[in-house]
Amino acid sequence: MRTPIIAGNWKMNNTIAATKALVTELIPLVKDAKAEVVICTPYTDLATAVELTKGTNIKVGAENVHWAEKGAFTGEISADMLVELGVTYVIIGHSERRQYFGETDQTVNARVKAALAKGLKPIICVGETLEEREGGKVEEVLVRQTTEAFKDIAKEDLENIVVAYEPVWAIGTGKTATAEVANDTIKIIRDTIGKLYCPKCAEEKVRIQYGGSMNPKNVKELMAMPEIDGGLIGGASLKAPDFSLVVNY
Ligand code: PGA
Repeated sequence: MRTPIIAGNWKMNNTIAATKALVTELIPLVKDAKAEVVICTPYTDLATAVELTKGTNIKVGAENVHWAEKGAFTGEISADMLVELGVTYVIIGHSERRQYFGETDQTVNARVKAALAKGLKPIICVGETLEEREGGKVEEVLVRQTTEAFKDIAKEDLENIVVAYEPVWAIGTGKTATAEVANDTIKIIRDTIGKLYCPKCAEEKVRIQYGGSMNPKNVKELMAMPEIDGGLIGGASLKAPDFSLVVNY
């Protein structure tokens, strides 16, 4: 019912030259994928990635977008700029941005609105820290992050939104949430969206990915879970053979 979506999050990796090599190697490896395939790249690689993937099944995403339409925001990038480049998706609220760059639930919501207004599809990241999980706060944190991210977002926009559940303790650490834990936690997110809109909307329209050390070895088990609609892949998206194994799980 919900088309699976596997997205690479390159983070601050790959020059234009490296992008050319990686994307060229990736294209034939993922051409028969059942899942929707996305690569989210640094801003400087977007034009190259879009050009190389024209006419293929790979879509390109950015890793952030500013909430203002334009103006005095030195160093920032607007939704219009991304749309003009041919970008389809944009990651918003990644835990690294929350941790290192002052991202809050409110700025996440502002960015989501700005993206949707210009026809970009947000991949909204939510997830608890280890401390929050150990303190029994998983539900509280995810309900808050989800509710704030979707504030004032119209029901009609739901089908253009992807959520990525990324437990902070599993990102880049080699520690994956067990498939059961990931599934149960994603259920909390889906139920929250169901309460905000309607259960059927959450069930049918919103795809929720798992992210955090997802790789060729654990992808099958994670993707077999009913609530998990895809993955947001960091480390394993930087090598074409690994990423293609995840995409073709
Ligand atoms: P990882 O990163 O796959 O390297 O854990 C995932 C992410 O941060 O999106």
